[in-house]
Amino acid sequence: MAERRGPPQEDIDAGLVASYTSIKDATPEEMRKSMAGFNKMATPQQQAERVLRLFGELKDCFIGNHVDMMEHGLQTATRALRDGADEETVVVALLHDIGEVMSPINHGEVAAAFLRPYISPQNHWILMHHEIFQAFYYQDAAGLTEKKTRERFSDSKYYAACVKFCHDWDQVSFDPDYDSFPLEHFVPMVHRLFQRKPYWHSEHGDCKVAAAKMTIAAGYPSDGRVDHQEATAATPPPEKRQRIDVA
Ligand SMILES: [Fe+2]
Ligand SMILES: [Fe+2]
Repeated sequence: MAERRGPPQEDIDAGLVASYTSIKDATPEEMRKSMAGFNKMATPQQQAERVLRLFGELKDCFIGNHVDMMEHGLQTATRALRDGADEETVVVALLHDIGEVMSPINHGEVAAAFLRPYISPQNHWILMHHEIFQAFYYQDAAGLTEKKTRERFSDSKYYAACVKFCHDWDQVSFDPDYDSFPLEHFVPMVHRLFQRKPYWHSEHGDCKVAAAKMTIAAGYPSDGRVDHQEATAATPPPEKRQRIDVA
């Protein structure tokens, strides 16, 4: 049997370790311990730090042009910020390609998955679809057989917002001479996003999967979570601030 290490004794002493070996056997008291132990390891701050470490992996990750993927994210986020996008959208722009080299042909789904509970359905949709919309800008150069694949989604109420995301911020952000803000500028924004109570948007429940996860999320500890308006209230508004609302 491989060597196994148990939890720290201090966690056991603090009542953060349940004794069950199968979850179905957990008592309410054991579940309280388990949830407390879980909460210690998954605070909003730790979530943000883990995501930022993953983003840090994009430094020196060049994928065939003159900027690494970290700079591409910083540049996309800086353009969004200067264009008056709200803080949530700026964070989405920063992290949109975090899965680019992890899962290239569906990389938008990587960021979409872990940001989903904390962002609007519109921004989730943009993350999910952005690489399809990006293809519009290289379809001829790459010799793609189907042109304008993005138009398969032209009936979506989020179509125009995704076009703007890609046209104005994403596809132009491969410029080694662009004066992007440094990562430190965006770190507090990432932390504020993960402080939000998950599934805050009224339309999150429109998806059956998200609705079910909202239901079980009621069993998760909510320490350190704040209402999303409260989480962003501390943000000094950029000079030009507006939401991208598409009917
Ligand atoms: Fe992408
Ligand atoms: Fe990108």
